[in-house]
Amino acid sequence: MVFRILQVGLGNRGRMWGRIIADHPGATFAGIVDADPARIGAFKAEFGEFAAFEDLEAALREVRADAVLLVTPPDGHLDQARLVFAAGLPLLAEKPLTLDLADALEIVVLAESQACPLAVGLNFRYLPVSQAIRRLVRDNTLGAAGFGTFNYHRNRDWWRPGMNTYPLTMLHPMMLEQSIHHLDLIRFCYGREVEAVQCRSWNPSWSVYAHDANVSCLLTLEGGLEVDYLGTWTGGWNELKFQWRTDCEDGVILQQELFSNLSTVRTDEKTLTPVPLAECVPFLDDTRALLDDFITAIEEGRPVPCSGRDHLNTLALCFAAIEADDTGRRIDMREFRRRHGLEVSA
Ligand SMILES: NC(=O)c1ccc[n+]([C@@H]2O[C@H](COP(=O)([O-])OP(=O)(O)OC[C@H]3O[C@@H](n4cnc5c(N)ncnc54)[C@H](O)[C@@H]3O)[C@@H](O)[C@H]2O)c1
Repeated sequence: MVFRILQVGLGNRGRMWGRIIADHPGATFAGIVDADPARIGAFKAEFGEFAAFEDLEAALREVRADAVLLVTPPDGHLDQARLVFAAGLPLLAEKPLTLDLADALEIVVLAESQACPLAVGLNFRYLPVSQAIRRLVRDNTLGAAGFGTFNYHRNRDWWRPGMNTYPLTMLHPMMLEQSIHHLDLIRFCYGREVEAVQCRSWNPSWSVYAHDANVSCLLTLEGGLEVDYLGTWTGGWNELKFQWRTDCEDGVILQQELFSNLSTVRTDEKTLTPVPLAECVPFLDDTRALLDDFITAIEEGRPVPCSGRDHLNTLALCFAAIEADDTGRRIDMREFRRRHGLEVSA
């Protein structure tokens, strides 16, 4: 059976999804939706003729879909999710699920009450490098992980054609658009939850963003694993530099490029040993793997990957970090989740 997807949002990221679905042997477009007719025209010119709508409600009335894919800016996700669940359909929504934790919780609770599967687009979990770090940590290959340093330096060139523009004016663009991926990877690859967070976020004088484009967090994870995180979209050099180092009892796990270049080294060794990784085109192959997992889960009636419920933990971490910055306090995640109705147990 070919899986019919109603794709909503045909912008920068929507075109990547367009390529993935257009090339997918087991999936097709039930229809496409964008509020901007020019975006619909450009999408059709690139990927072919499909039933097209400027409004999600009309599309849900007119087409037969197996799931909805939301690739719209996050501020519209709550209204769109309400329509999708009222139509009884599964939803795969791009991150962040919303820009407000209570709204995100509302979406998750609504999905659960309507028994509609809900997944969030955390495709970087599917990068071979992320999967390999997760395995190395889980298997204690270099001994128990003790502390990590995660550094992402970028000068995000918003003049580049096709770049989205809403991050320029939103609150906390770095935290909610970019660091959210990194904090999610820290949870996912280390295979444990964050217990406490300290944070500073700020905006350098030359930033083109209206709000904070730099984030620095100190995270304490379960088992005493400490992580020092820095992410910036306003680096002083227009070259992306990435390093994620995990120091373990008997050595180090070292990722030296954003989507690849993983090595290990034992404490007394002089040279790094590369970890072989499968070929991967970032943003496409990882997203295709997520989509495949999502489709299979729905067809087999299993829980979907990157569930909305799980995403609440990453989103809660982002908002707890923002609170830590606002108050100058170290935030206890359990207390924060309880305060926001995300955790019921004492
Ligand atoms: N997972 C990833 O790797 C990744 C990468 C890039 C972007 N994203 C996410 O994808 C989402 C979209 O980002 P983008 O870069 O494509 O933004 P964009 O601004 O380029 O495109 C958004 C599109 O949504 C359309 N739209 C807005 N409101 C709509 C509505 N109510 N109904 C129908 N269409 C509407 C706009 O007309 C536009 O075409 C964001 O949440 C972003 O964080 C994820």
